Amino acid sequence: MDVLRTKSIEQSLADTDEPDYQLKKRLGALDLTVFGIGVVIGAGIFTLTGRVARDYAGPGVVFSFILAAICCALAALCYAEFASTVPVAGSAYTFSYATLGELIAWIIGWDLILELMLGASVVAQGWSAYFVIFLDELGITWPAGIGPSEGFQWDHVNVPALLLVAILTTLVAFGIKESMRVNLVLVAVKLFIVLFVIVAGLFYVSGANYDPFIPPAADPISASGIHQPLIQWAFGIEPQTFGVLGIISAASVVFFAYIGFDVVATTAEEARNPQRDLPIGILGSLAICTLLYVAVALVITGMVPYDQIDPAAALATAFRDVGQSGYATLIAAGAVAGLTTVVMTLLIGAIRVMFAMSRDGLIPHGFGRTNPATGTPVRITITIGAIVAVVASYTPIGKLEEMVNIGTLTAFALVSLAVPVLRKSRPDLNRPFRVPLSPWLPFLSALVCLYLMVNLSIETWLRFVVWMLLGFVIYFAYGHGHSRVRREEKASV
Ligand code: ALA
Repeated sequence: MDVLRTKSIEQSLADTDEPDYQLKKRLGALDLTVFGIGVVIGAGIFTLTGRVARDYAGPGVVFSFILAAICCALAALCYAEFASTVPVAGSAYTFSYATLGELIAWIIGWDLILELMLGASVVAQGWSAYFVIFLDELGITWPAGIGPSEGFQWDHVNVPALLLVAILTTLVAFGIKESMRVNLVLVAVKLFIVLFVIVAGLFYVSGANYDPFIPPAADPISASGIHQPLIQWAFGIEPQTFGVLGIISAASVVFFAYIGFDVVATTAEEARNPQRDLPIGILGSLAICTLLYVAVALVITGMVPYDQIDPAAALATAFRDVGQSGYATLIAAGAVAGLTTVVMTLLIGAIRVMFAMSRDGLIPHGFGRTNPATGTPVRITITIGAIVAVVASYTPIGKLEEMVNIGTLTAFALVSLAVPVLRKSRPDLNRPFRVPLSPWLPFLSALVCLYLMVNLSIETWLRFVVWMLLGFVIYFAYGHGHSRVRREEKASV
């Protein structure tokens, strides 16, 4: 079966030396950790925490964050082994091309593009919501007709989201190091704001809000029909939120807050010392974010009774509710800065994955050529930027997060399974970082991902199936015939 053809690791590494397709190796361990934190902390903590605590889990959302972190940590170990063994742009896509074959690699690449492009769109929308709130705090009213919207209309464009994506696309097109510098400043602001919420919020925590810590199970209408988790429907479990099932459903949603550490692996080719620095960047950013999330979730659910938390801008509103309007303005400003870095990093990740796919001929080759002046793949950058801008400015807010999660969880599960496969097929490779307890830990990682996936709604699964079908059509219509590995195999016969 030629859809199972693999691209050798040596070939993947050799490709990075091709003159027109070279990325510059300029990033160190600190750059990578900052890059990771820059993309991980974003709309998840600034907006989702409130919505999920209110609708699914109450203060128990703390456990949801821990559960999602465990899932990510297991996958992160697998990513770290791969990224240190195959330091090539494209992340999970490249790893699977070397191990599980071209078709699976295509599926993962297609998933990653979904994750990264829709992720960037979601966060650009969250950014626009905070931007409008921030202006409002300053006494400036942004016209509602060109702002964030909950419904779809052809003539309604979310202009702040559109402008943000356009500016960031231009910045990224001019070169990653320049973007990294901007990133560093914005990440510092974001960390300051998150720490500020934790420390200042502690003074307003009331023990009464933690009682009950896990609210009793309920069966709201929102959890029935195609909105219910696949697992509840499949096993005939009564649809419910809160209680233990609520905590698990919430974990599959707050998983969004951790997305991005895997994007560190997409920059592998630009790392100066990938074997050492990538594992540090991936695991370090995940550990720091987990601590911050648990602390923020504890503080917010301690400040406001869970059923009264603002689902849109929980962090800022919690302080307004306790009479600290000035703090609320500061937090809104921090969110605007913080979400900017997330959109930028997700854009960079999407560009890198598409770059790797184009280099392999699965999408047109000329599309990925790097521009000699900037050292970046300008055509891909503009295409991705344009798609993200359209999706972010037209799609109603709150519709895309679960789609991002399902795409990412699929990629995590496949990458985890690929670790023992590569150990068996290529025991000779140098593995500076090794997952402990392989193959059991990778298997467990894939199982946990699958478990969170079946806790997502039926509606999300249906949309995901449509996206995957589209991917198959493109692969069999173009990529399968134009694949560079296929052409080289043919030439050598
Ligand atoms: N983890 C990123 C966020 O929460 C995608 O915005």
